[in-house]
Amino acid sequence: MNRKLIAAIDTPDLARARDLIAQVAPHCGLVKLGLEFFLHHGPMGYRRAAEGVPVFLDLKLHDIPNTVAGGVRALLDLAPKLLTIHAQGGARMVAAAAEAAAQLGPERPKILAVTVLTSLGAPDLAEMGVTGEVSAQVLRLARVALENGADGLVCSAHEIAALRAEFGARRLLVVPGIRPTGTALGDQTRVMTPEEAVAAGADYIVVGRPITGAPDPGRAAAEIAASVA
Ligand code: C5P
Repeated sequence: MNRKLIAAIDTPDLARARDLIAQVAPHCGLVKLGLEFFLHHGPMGYRRAAEGVPVFLDLKLHDIPNTVAGGVRALLDLAPKLLTIHAQGGARMVAAAAEAAAQLGPERPKILAVTVLTSLGAPDLAEMGVTGEVSAQVLRLARVALENGADGLVCSAHEIAALRAEFGARRLLVVPGIRPTGTALGDQTRVMTPEEAVAAGADYIVVGRPITGAPDPGRAAAEIAASVA
């Protein structure tokens, strides 16, 4: 078991999610459920799939502050350990999400902000009026999030050093785009191995297909967990 490992359970199929979680949960700190699963199965499906297992709920909330706060409050019954919002919602939206989560006290979900989606490049940002380096926009949005109550960020392994230099060691950095040596990249491009990402300063690594697509997902998770122990 390694608490740094988060297994991404990306499937719309409830029975498969339950089966995968049963196999991988003994080896990971958390399992990640995302928008597709949650929109198919809702809170009931979440409970059925992840009973007793700590969850990173990756819904990337983004709306006006009042609506996001209401959304966070609606999720508190499920008590996810980590919950994502978009930093692009702005300072007041981040603060509203953090305040809503704080209602649960020490057991509150930690709020993670997404900065620039990894699917966006400089031309996409320019189209939206954001010129300059993507990395500069990542830092700007990270500052908005971390100065307004977010506990941490979802970021690429390649952004860790700059974010640590700017914001220090106490922020949670949760890092997808992880590929153990010899596994397929899929649609990920700028990847790091689990060992490299943890050495670079990731608090958590998020691994999906190298686990869920393996012939024995439990074993794959156990091997990755051991590699970063
Ligand atoms: O299968 P794979 O390991 O690529 O899965 C990574 C997980 O992390 C997926 O659930 C994906 O949606 C998520 N993610 C990502 N890149 C981001 C944010 C989230 O790959 N920037």
